[in-house]
Amino acid sequence: MTSITLPERHLPWPTPWVEIFARDAPLLVEIGFGGGHFLRDLAQKRPSANIIGVEISLPSLRRGERKIVHAGLSNVRLLQCSARYLFWALCAPGSVAEVYINFPDPWPKAAHHQRRLINESFLHLLATRMKVNGRLDIATDHADYAQWITEALAQMPYFDSRLPVPFVTEDNERLRTKYENIALAAGRTCHYYKWRRNETPAPDTFPPPEELPMPHVILETPLSLPDIENHFTPFHVAEDDAHIRFMEMFLARDEASLLVDTYLKEEPMAQRVGLQIRLRPSGDLVVGLHELGFPRPTSGIHTAVRHLADWVVSLHSEGHIVRHNLQQQMGEGTDLPN
Ligand SMILES: C[S@@+](CC[C@H](N)C(=O)[O-])C[C@H]1O[C@@H](n2cnc3c(N)ncnc32)[C@H](O)[C@@H]1O
Repeated sequence: MTSITLPERHLPWPTPWVEIFARDAPLLVEIGFGGGHFLRDLAQKRPSANIIGVEISLPSLRRGERKIVHAGLSNVRLLQCSARYLFWALCAPGSVAEVYINFPDPWPKAAHHQRRLINESFLHLLATRMKVNGRLDIATDHADYAQWITEALAQMPYFDSRLPVPFVTEDNERLRTKYENIALAAGRTCHYYKWRRNETPAPDTFPPPEELPMPHVILETPLSLPDIENHFTPFHVAEDDAHIRFMEMFLARDEASLLVDTYLKEEPMAQRVGLQIRLRPSGDLVVGLHELGFPRPTSGIHTAVRHLADWVVSLHSEGHIVRHNLQQQMGEGTDLPN
């Protein structure tokens, strides 16, 4: 049997969900399904919906997978990634019919509030990916987070409450989650939000990432690869929305290549990749992306290759770029042949 857990790192941007589920049906998403009880019950109750469960926790993913498989359900797919990545990169605009967020982590300390999943930016992202009239259901047992959610929703012109009030504290109709049962047994008040995506257009400021050709820069420098390695100290570059950390450099035993351990954060994703500086028989160097770990050559990766090549060139007055295939210019104001 094919696994119901999908390899989120390799899915197309955006993902053709109709092909993945092999049928055209309303697309529902549960964010942070935890033990998977609600997800299983939802899938049983809605056999004619295509349902995605997204979790960042691997143990939860495994538990959810066992529950869905044990129940013999074929209308669910699971992903281990952040909800932000799922909506931003994998869901096409206007494609999601229903979103369920049950008991999101409340991050109670003020210093951690920026980690809260629900904020105006996330709601705006949801608004771009949801269908008009799509349902957004949120539940929390945390009074402070409830107030935060109420304020964030009130700021958003793209959603309206389906009830005459922003939330209710009792809902005997809904499927219960594990966390909810614990909260209710402990006497905590739960806040239930039942909202809908309205007709107000939401500007899409979340362009899905794009896969570009594998980048390469060919350059010449009198320096040897061991010389270059000697010059290296970790450095960090921030450009547009990309944050790149060149962390460590490794010289191959045959001294014919350098591998640069690189961390790249570009919304909505982060990649840990190996950039490579390779000596060619012709004596020039090629800077590119090593295939280790099957990285995806995004625009941020092109930016990282450009900065690394610029750095190598800057080490010697005779260093210069010969050519490149980057969809960006090399160096500050340098117009180089493609
Ligand atoms: C407090 S638990 C609630 C679990 C379940 N919904 C319930 O009500 O029993 C919050 C869950 O959200 C998951 N989570 C946190 N941040 C997430 C994110 N950005 N994307 C997807 N899942 C996330 C956590 O791993 C955790 O399982």
